[in-house]
Amino acid sequence: MAADMTPLRLLALDGDGIGPEIMAATLAVLDALRPALGREITVDHATIGFEALKASGSTIPDAVVDAALAADGVLLGPVSHNAYPPRDEGGLNPSGVLRRALDLYANIRPARTWPGTKAPARGPVDLVVVRENLEGFYADRNLHLGPGEFMPVPGVALAVRRITEEASRRIAEAAFTLAETRPARRVTAVHKANVMRVSDGLFLDTVRDVAAQHPNVTYDEMLVDAAAAHLVRDAGRFDIIATTNMFGDILSDLASELAGGLGLAGSLNHGPRHAAAQAQHGSAPDIAGQDRANPVSLILSLGMLLRHLGEAHAADHLTTSLATCLARPQTRTRDLGGQLGTRAFTDTLVQTLAETGP
Ligand code: NAD
Ligand code: IPM
Ligand code: MN
Repeated sequence: MAADMTPLRLLALDGDGIGPEIMAATLAVLDALRPALGREITVDHATIGFEALKASGSTIPDAVVDAALAADGVLLGPVSHNAYPPRDEGGLNPSGVLRRALDLYANIRPARTWPGTKAPARGPVDLVVVRENLEGFYADRNLHLGPGEFMPVPGVALAVRRITEEASRRIAEAAFTLAETRPARRVTAVHKANVMRVSDGLFLDTVRDVAAQHPNVTYDEMLVDAAAAHLVRDAGRFDIIATTNMFGDILSDLASELAGGLGLAGSLNHGPRHAAAQAQHGSAPDIAGQDRANPVSLILSLGMLLRHLGEAHAADHLTTSLATCLARPQTRTRDLGGQLGTRAFTDTLVQTLAETGP
């Protein structure tokens, strides 16, 4: 049968803060990658965040969710969610809304050191946090109706943490399937089952069950507090970390910072039908509009999305050119000890992609 040559349709959502700057960089890189693609890619644009709130009263209008559902993949910029007004005034968290609407249950967050760059980690790092993305403590997405936190009487706030066997099994399967593609073939389940005996107990029992079906993958377990210490002490011992939503959120920022910084932290949200490339970091309002943001996290996320959509050749080409740029201080952004602004770095990467050919 002939390969499917229908164009892939991406939806780009800039977001807030540094979002428009790093999205422009990422789309320039996508353009430079076109000769390496097997299929044509078209990009539609829609508005989320403060701009959408001003224009239509919601930080993520329903029409944007529909457009995301119709796309083959989403490029999602960071949002200033913490600064949004309450939900009933239109301040929805676009990350939570999209993850839920598109059933993006897996958040894949690699942290690796790049040769030539300085990193706080004590040795080379090459790990992936596989984070459950739809339940846990995340009050905006963990219940069918209503928020997962409430205040029964003044001065008392309660938050519901949802853990299900189904979600634990899906994320464990994603972790073991990914481990099978990697040289170290190791999964560490990170949990707090010594205290959360029922909820993390269910998570752990489910991961163990999945582990038993993957005898070719080495499996171990670690309490989350110790995992934070072990990451700082010897991040090189980890390959895949499989964990629940909030632990994965926190540990992935820690691991990425240890491996060189949040500016190098790509991530992919995926489910059975949809996928969204999204940097691990936030909208960095402290450096927004100053041409200082490192666009590499979103660019790496684009690479992950392309690989997920079957464009491994383009993704490999991107990784090779990024490694070339990151290896030398004169072709890096300031957060990595270089001098380049967002735009100059992007121009350099685009040139490197063109020079090294598809
Ligand atoms: P942040 O990740 O935006 O920034 C943390 C620090 O890292 C800041 O010093 C920032 O300047 C730096 N940084 C982040 N990305 C960088 C980049 N690409 N290049 C260079 N430096 C970078 O975290 P925050 O300040 O706590 O959050 C800001 C806003 O982002 C909040 O409203 C928060 O809710 C939101 N947020 C959004 C997402 C998302 O959309 N995916 C994720 C996390 C936080
Ligand atoms: C992330 C972010 C988001 C999350 C916030 C902005 C809601 O922290 O993607 O890491 O955890 O869902
Ligand atoms: Mn986070």
